[in-house]
Amino acid sequence: MSVIEKCTSYTRAREAKAAGLYPYFLNFDGRDAGSARMADGREVVMCGSNDYLGLSTDPRVVEAAARAAHRHGAGCTGSRFLNGNLELHDQLERELAQFFGKPAALVLTTGYQANLGAIAGLCGPGDIVFLDKEAHASLIDAARLSRARIQWFAHNDAADLETKLARVAGGADCMVVVDGVYSMEGDLCPLPELVDVCEKYGATLLVDDAHGGGVLDKGRGTASHFALTDRVPLITLTFSKAFGSIGGAVLGDEEVIDFLRHNARSLMFSASASPSNTAAALESLRILQNEPWRCSTVADNADFMRRELTELGYEVGDSRTPIVPVATGDDISTLLAWNLLIEQGVYVNAVLPPAASPRLRTSYTAVQTEEQLARAVEGFRAVRDRILRVPVGA
Ligand SMILES: Cc1ncc(COP(=O)(O)O)c(C=O)c1O
Repeated sequence: MSVIEKCTSYTRAREAKAAGLYPYFLNFDGRDAGSARMADGREVVMCGSNDYLGLSTDPRVVEAAARAAHRHGAGCTGSRFLNGNLELHDQLERELAQFFGKPAALVLTTGYQANLGAIAGLCGPGDIVFLDKEAHASLIDAARLSRARIQWFAHNDAADLETKLARVAGGADCMVVVDGVYSMEGDLCPLPELVDVCEKYGATLLVDDAHGGGVLDKGRGTASHFALTDRVPLITLTFSKAFGSIGGAVLGDEEVIDFLRHNARSLMFSASASPSNTAAALESLRILQNEPWRCSTVADNADFMRRELTELGYEVGDSRTPIVPVATGDDISTLLAWNLLIEQGVYVNAVLPPAASPRLRTSYTAVQTEEQLARAVEGFRAVRDRILRVPVGA
């Protein structure tokens, strides 16, 4: 089959559209973190945003972005390495390193690129990257790009990791790669056990804290939540979630960050984060330190929804983070459930393979009002019998 035939024979999205069930690439026309207006004018309660602290529309963040655009332009039009570096990037690195408690930081254009840069920059042929079975796509892509050997271990299973590491101990340079908070289940990695195993076998641990950074432990993230920041050599971050912007970072020791600064291809061969995105991330970092209530409120809001959804009979797993997955069954049941909820004015994310097994991914923010959450609960109540009648795995 030619590469073009592959496209013409791809019917999955067309079929969902024809059935009136397609839930992707929808246009939003104005939003705050608690609610959103769809392009067709519908107001929905937003239960599917990663804007965990509600900072993407905070007037101070928006103002910082606008000021930076006026001062430096709409884009840097080049890589940080050659001609796209601003004092803003350097300042953000200093403040990130200080806040997260690591010696140094490197700012990249997205979290995806931060993972590519860190993993493919540090690992190569002859090395082994150990990946959790549920690791984020960007971590998998990064490991593939590195051309290191990939070895999978069972999700959140430090014993399985140990068995596999023991087989190669001393024979190769090993990096262990996990998410701090898993984006689809909302569960945390078992960091204490992972750190012990990595130290025992001399493997370098990288924690992608896209969903924990800015959220857990007053924003200091998963490693700090477990009081293990000093024992996690590499942490990656994104600014596209709690920081309400776009961009990413790698945190680590000075020498490692300096090496990546001069060897990470996703940094050197891609334009730097825009002035406005960088300034927005910096402003968010400052706000979240001064307003720790945001981290506790997002946790309270998610706990409230977890309780309410469980009481309604939904299966929500056992996450303790702002991410609350709702079990639905198969692909079609998931699309149907998504459509029923949107009719009720509740926006969630329909997740289908290969992203994860079918489910609704719901997530909550610090700025949702009691009234908005109550509306979401009412929406879930109204459709409960129709969603829960769909047998799981049918
Ligand atoms: C766990 C994880 N890592 C990395 C990324 C990539 O972040 P970005 O949107 O900044 O590219 C995401 C975004 O979905 C993520 O969920």
